[in-house]
Amino acid sequence: MSIAMSSSQPRVVLIGGGIIGLAIGWRLALAGASVDIFERDAAAGQRASRAAAGMLAAAVEAEPGEQPLLPLCLASREMWPDFAAELEAASGLPVGLRREGTMVVALTRDDVETLRSNYEFQRGLGLDIHWLTGAQAKEREPFLNPRTAAAVYSPRDGQVDNRLATAALRVALAKAGGRLHEGTPVTGLEISAGRVTGVQLGDRVQAADKVVLAAGAWSRLLPGLPVPPPVRPVKGQMLSIAMDPAAPLLNHVVWGPKCYLVPRADGTLIVGATTEEKGFDDQMTAGGVLALLEAAWRTLPGIEELPIREMWNGLRPGCRDDAPILGWAEGVEGLALATGHHRNGILLAPITAHTIADLVLTGRVDEKIAGFGAGRFARLGVVAA
Ligand code: FAD
Ligand code: GLY
Repeated sequence: MSIAMSSSQPRVVLIGGGIIGLAIGWRLALAGASVDIFERDAAAGQRASRAAAGMLAAAVEAEPGEQPLLPLCLASREMWPDFAAELEAASGLPVGLRREGTMVVALTRDDVETLRSNYEFQRGLGLDIHWLTGAQAKEREPFLNPRTAAAVYSPRDGQVDNRLATAALRVALAKAGGRLHEGTPVTGLEISAGRVTGVQLGDRVQAADKVVLAAGAWSRLLPGLPVPPPVRPVKGQMLSIAMDPAAPLLNHVVWGPKCYLVPRADGTLIVGATTEEKGFDDQMTAGGVLALLEAAWRTLPGIEELPIREMWNGLRPGCRDDAPILGWAEGVEGLALATGHHRNGILLAPITAHTIADLVLTGRVDEKIAGFGAGRFARLGVVAA
């Protein structure tokens, strides 16, 4: 999808080289903007965007109270196939998009009641999901716990390999002429007469016509923000198990009670995730790993003898209403916000890239993101801590 530019090559600086900064930067560079992404870490894409499971779970993650977010999630999910194809063509690298669909399984009577209530809520929203008996679920996934009592099947909720996608974005960005500066923290904003004119990089300044803040869970910590976006870190611990790629135990993404399981094409089975309010703490804990392993083993007992491949954790950029902040910042002209993607930043990368690149280049606020501006928090009386 191309974006028309209204004036000659604007200089755009992006703060943060996660999937959100990289995807927006790629779109801007393709449209002819001069793009510089500054990433504090030695390598980009190592934070939430590496930690994620890569589920494109617009339907099965739809929860009561999050109805305003649903159209954005559904629209971005539908953009993923073209976005992935374009990214693979531009970078020459695979991104691991898989479209077998997602199953949510219930093991006990209690689980079935919860599943039924979520199913009715999600069906009421018009989502394309289907009730399966335990036998039908095991026909699709024979290694599920034999006691699997029922499942919901969501054919359109797939997955992408977020680590591959981030790696592909780095290459595509460079090929489109964008520059990624790793190991380069942005230390403040240059603001003149209420307008952003650049960013501070320690003792030097990079001039810019527009700046995009895409610093994930750290977004509100950037010095000099007139109104820091109210984003907080929400920790998630994860682990992965090595399946035989020639005989994987699962093909669909599966949500079991208290865990989700995401099978990659190379045989890696991702098991996630805890949801913890622990600030910027990044320790793995025995309790977290125990809970994940137990839940995964109950859902898919065949993992018992398989080797553990990796354990890690990441910080979701969470907002009070679990929706991202997309639009112009309050109190300073020329500063766009693309942060707070919480549990859905991989899913929402294509629509964020398109709408924020459009915003930066044309000033237009796409109606799909009109309800996600930072102003909604001021109206609710929410201030950053
Ligand atoms: P990040 O990837 O965290 O990137 C922000 C970057 O900004 C970092 O690299 C950081 O170093 C940099 N930065 C910060 N401050 C500065 C500064 N001052 N100067 C320069 N750079 C700076 N989403 C899904 O859609 N599907 C999933 O299945 C899924 N699973 C998840 C599982 C877990 C355990 C976690 C933690 C998250 C999951 N998410 C999932 C959410 C998703 O990972 C995030 O929403 C998304 O990665 C946010 O991307 P980002 O680029 O905003 O943040
Ligand atoms: N979306 C899955 C997670 O955030 O854990």
